[in-house]
Amino acid sequence: MIAKYLVPAVAVLGSAAAQSSQCTQSTATIASPADATQLATACKTFNGAIYVSNAAQGTVDFSGLNQVKGDFIAEHNGRLTGLSSSTLNSITGQFRLTNLTGLSSLSFTSLNSVGSISWTSLNALDSLTFGTPGIEKAKSVVISDTFLSSLAGIDVTTLEDLDINNNHRLSIWDSSLTNLTNTMNFLANGNNFTVSLDQLTWIANMTVNNVTSFSVPALQTVNGSASFGSNQFASFSAPNLTSTTSGNINFVGNPKLTNVTFPQLTKLGGALLIANNTALETVDGFPKLKTVGGAIKLRGNFSDVEFPALNDVKGAFDISSTSDISAACDTFQKLAPSKQGGDGRIQGVYHCESNNAQANSDTGGNTSTSGTTGGSGSSGDKGNSAAGVAFNAAMLGLAVVGGLVALL
Ligand SMILES: *[C@@H]1O[C@H](CO)[C@@H](O)[C@H](O)[C@H]1NC(C)=O
Ligand SMILES: *[C@@H]1O[C@H](CO)[C@@H](O)[C@H](O)[C@H]1NC(C)=O
Ligand SMILES: *[C@@H]1O[C@H](CO)[C@@H](O)[C@H](O)[C@H]1NC(C)=O
Ligand SMILES: *[C@@H]1O[C@H](CO)[C@@H](O)[C@H](O)[C@H]1NC(C)=O
Ligand SMILES: *[C@@H]1O[C@H](CO)[C@@H](O)[C@H](O)[C@H]1NC(C)=O
Ligand SMILES: *[C@@H]1O[C@H](CO)[C@@H](O)[C@H](O)[C@H]1NC(C)=O
Ligand SMILES: *[C@@H]1O[C@H](CO)[C@@H](O)[C@H](O)[C@H]1NC(C)=O
Ligand SMILES: *[C@@H]1O[C@H](CO)[C@@H](O)[C@H](O)[C@H]1NC(C)=O
Ligand SMILES: *[C@@H]1O[C@H](CO)[C@@H](O)[C@H](O)[C@H]1NC(C)=O
Ligand SMILES: *[C@@H]1O[C@H](CO)[C@@H](O)[C@H](O)[C@H]1NC(C)=O
Ligand SMILES: *[C@@H]1O[C@H](CO)[C@@H](O)[C@H](O)[C@H]1NC(C)=O
Repeated sequence: MIAKYLVPAVAVLGSAAAQSSQCTQSTATIASPADATQLATACKTFNGAIYVSNAAQGTVDFSGLNQVKGDFIAEHNGRLTGLSSSTLNSITGQFRLTNLTGLSSLSFTSLNSVGSISWTSLNALDSLTFGTPGIEKAKSVVISDTFLSSLAGIDVTTLEDLDINNNHRLSIWDSSLTNLTNTMNFLANGNNFTVSLDQLTWIANMTVNNVTSFSVPALQTVNGSASFGSNQFASFSAPNLTSTTSGNINFVGNPKLTNVTFPQLTKLGGALLIANNTALETVDGFPKLKTVGGAIKLRGNFSDVEFPALNDVKGAFDISSTSDISAACDTFQKLAPSKQGGDGRIQGVYHCESNNAQANSDTGGNTSTSGTTGGSGSSGDKGNSAAGVAFNAAMLGLAVVGGLVALL
């Protein structure tokens, strides 16, 4: 029984008077469907946390309750099969569901606003029963290790953090996100996940792995780094992206990628790393790229490389291909530091190499400091796609310093 914790004490449960109640309590522990019914009948607004304990079984319904000013938590319970409320509109704190292996129904048809969503290890949850549009307001959304095939019902436009990982059945997400201020991750959601962020204009950091298609037609600003690894898409374009503030852009180990285009990108705050995308034969998608705050490192099977507007590269310029790129190397040589015979538009070490059979095995952020053309100075570390991208991106940033030092 929980009534004894509720303030004001509700004498006549379910009466109109009781229904207008505000209830206040640090935590209400719900150990059965009856506890939930009692709370939801007594309280319209609950000031405090609601904790569904691991004693609760079956479906626990909170219809009647409108608002939780606090967290709503259920965790480590294999016997809970459903959680629902047709009236709950807002949860100001966390909506946290963790390790509920029997949960197959999540039905909150009026829920519109939550502080944050954190749903992890919900292995039986194959769909959400939310309203239309569903949740429109949240600060952060983390959905990990579920059986969901759709995220319909989550329709937020601004977020601080988004992390969608290890949901192997996800197939499509058409999101109306416009602005994401911290981190966006899509990782290991199977190989059949199509993501369309048609309204997204502003992001900070993002990591996109194992998606079939990724579309950001309106993206204008990347105020951090963007990394793409192990994806199944053949083409990526950021038609409206004009600059990145300080971060890197990385494409590593995307086996089907044939076409990368950033037609409006003029300034890249950090580094550019394109490596081990074995189907990519042409790197000509940066027609306006002028200024690069970090290094440019390319490794792959490409036979054609063009950076026609390149004017200022603060870090190294380090290219190596399995193919013959000697014509491109002749062009870029003119931009090399004066010590290497160029006009100095590249400030770090210049290195350009054809016919390197090992070109695809160097996917790390380390750039060559050998300073030779056609030499074998392309050692690099052996960082791998998924986890490696972020780590190696950091090294690529450091390589700027290394490159400058090597020239002094
Ligand atoms: C998950 O919950 C079950 C109870 O259903 C518990 O036995 C198990 O230890 C929990 N797993 C973790 C990783 O906490
Ligand atoms: C992949 O997703 C599409 C929808 O985008 C779906 O029709 C198809 O069944 C999915 N394929 C697999 C293998 O899951
Ligand atoms: C996105 O958020 C950032 C950081 O809060 C802000 O500077 C920027 O103006 C926002 N952009 C849009 C389009 O709302
Ligand atoms: C983006 O990532 C970089 C490197 O990890 C970090 O320094 C920076 O603070 C991040 N930016 C945001 C807005 O999270
Ligand atoms: C991600 O893609 C890689 C490379 O294609 C593949 O080996 C891996 O199994 C994928 N992971 C998931 C979770 O789909
Ligand atoms: C791209 O930017 C232009 C100019 O700012 C704008 O008119 C256009 O609508 C944008 N495209 C998309 C898909 O948002
Ligand atoms: C953009 O990134 C820079 C560098 O990481 C940071 O100082 C700045 O606060 C960010 N801007 C916004 C609006 O988040
Ligand atoms: C590459 O993609 C861009 C943008 O989607 C497109 O305009 C261009 O035609 C594509 N190039 C090739 C060779 O497919
Ligand atoms: C890429 O180059 C490697 C090494 O030369 C070669 O084994 C592989 O077949 C090439 N892949 C493609 C798609 O051309
Ligand atoms: C290159 O990418 C392929 C998948 O496309 C992957 O199997 C291989 O391990 C990657 N090589 C390195 C050195 O990361
Ligand atoms: C980067 O490469 C250089 C030369 O190829 C090597 O001396 C250095 O140890 C490497 N750094 C890292 C962190 O792997």
